[in-house]
Amino acid sequence: MGNTLATGIIGLGILGSEYARFLGARPEVRVVAVADVRPEAAERVAAEIGAAAYTDFREMLRRHALDLAVVATPDPLHREPTAAALEAGVPNIIQEKPLATTVEDAEAICEAVERRRARLFVNYANRANPLDVASRYVIQEGLLGRVVYGEVRLDDNICVPRQLWGGRSQEWAAGSSTAHFLLSHVVDLLRWYFAPAEVRQVYAISQREALGYTPDVYDAYLTFDSGLKVRVKAEWIKHIDELVEFYLCFSGSEGTLVYNKRPGFGTAAGWRANLSRKVATGELLRHQEALHARGVNVGALLHRPDPAAGQLAAGGGELVPALEFRGLGGQTLMSLVGHLVDAIVEGTLTPRSWQHNGPLPTHLDGLKQTQVVAAIIRSAETGRTVEV
Ligand SMILES: NC(=O)c1ccc[n+]([C@@H]2O[C@H](COP(=O)([O-])OP(=O)(O)OC[C@H]3O[C@@H](n4cnc5c(N)ncnc54)[C@H](O)[C@@H]3O)[C@@H](O)[C@H]2O)c1
Repeated sequence: MGNTLATGIIGLGILGSEYARFLGARPEVRVVAVADVRPEAAERVAAEIGAAAYTDFREMLRRHALDLAVVATPDPLHREPTAAALEAGVPNIIQEKPLATTVEDAEAICEAVERRRARLFVNYANRANPLDVASRYVIQEGLLGRVVYGEVRLDDNICVPRQLWGGRSQEWAAGSSTAHFLLSHVVDLLRWYFAPAEVRQVYAISQREALGYTPDVYDAYLTFDSGLKVRVKAEWIKHIDELVEFYLCFSGSEGTLVYNKRPGFGTAAGWRANLSRKVATGELLRHQEALHARGVNVGALLHRPDPAAGQLAAGGGELVPALEFRGLGGQTLMSLVGHLVDAIVEGTLTPRSWQHNGPLPTHLDGLKQTQVVAAIIRSAETGRTVEV
């Protein structure tokens, strides 16, 4: 490795083009080559950033001694380019999520990473959203008590499976599903929020009524080894005004987190954690300060909830400490990638820019995520509960 990371990007669609722009502007990185089976995509991106264009990633890997390969091919096509880059001796890989769409592919990738003593990071971009950092913080600090139940909905507009990839959309969506494309994000976030807890059991349903060529929805109950149960649901048949809706809520023995990650009809984006009443004012301010240090500008408040609906009022009573943020958390597709580059440059899983947030996601996180998503699909197909 010279002063900069000689980098090649494989797959130059929506995400690959973002990588080219983002990495092309990073001083530690030199994007020397790009590859896509569509020559027009390869040539367009290559011209934009001054790299060599290839239609065959194997040829690219033969011609360039890369320090870093980025793999951003469609969901079911990650194994081949990642394995080829590892066999060519590339020591660092950044791969798009999901790690794979089958456990067999995920295991093969992991075997190759370990055998080549390489490093592979998966771009689970949600981890870099400041409000997800805050969610993980309040859960890990026990500020909600013991979290016992949660609900996560991540839905796409129906224009995603129909139009997002132009004329390739139907084929793209048919090769993936909301389980691979959307629940991969959710499963990774949950594993990260609730670490070291792991999903042990899955029960799921699915259906193909609206689209036909791909399931409309996966709706699953995940049971963790900690006893935590979370319902996770992702559909892509919504005729809504937004591209994405994303809602998370977790109830603990002493508090609740409500997180509207994306706004929807009549719903503003925002994050609110009503904390355990045991959290004293000084402690509340200390947690606020700790989140400020992590780049999350949350407000701290003491309030007296007074739940009422019409003539029904249950009575709030005590003062409750809370942390909140109103608005969007400020996530982009590349939010995590800067930290992944820092990790490669510093030779660590927790670079200085990421030191408070646990290790960055590797192939092993990718394998766990793939196993859980595969269990969701198997459960939906068989109608049975599946052990992970
Ligand atoms: N991290 C995130 O938040 C996020 C968001 C959206 C998509 N993604 C993921 O990024 C990946 C790419 O998605 P996309 O939307 O950019 O798809 P895309 O179809 O726009 O891009 C994929 C590209 O790979 C190319 N390709 C296919 N087979 C190839 C091969 N053998 N060699 C070289 N190139 C090949 C295609 O021609 C296409 O240009 C997917 O796995 C997707 O789930 C991640």
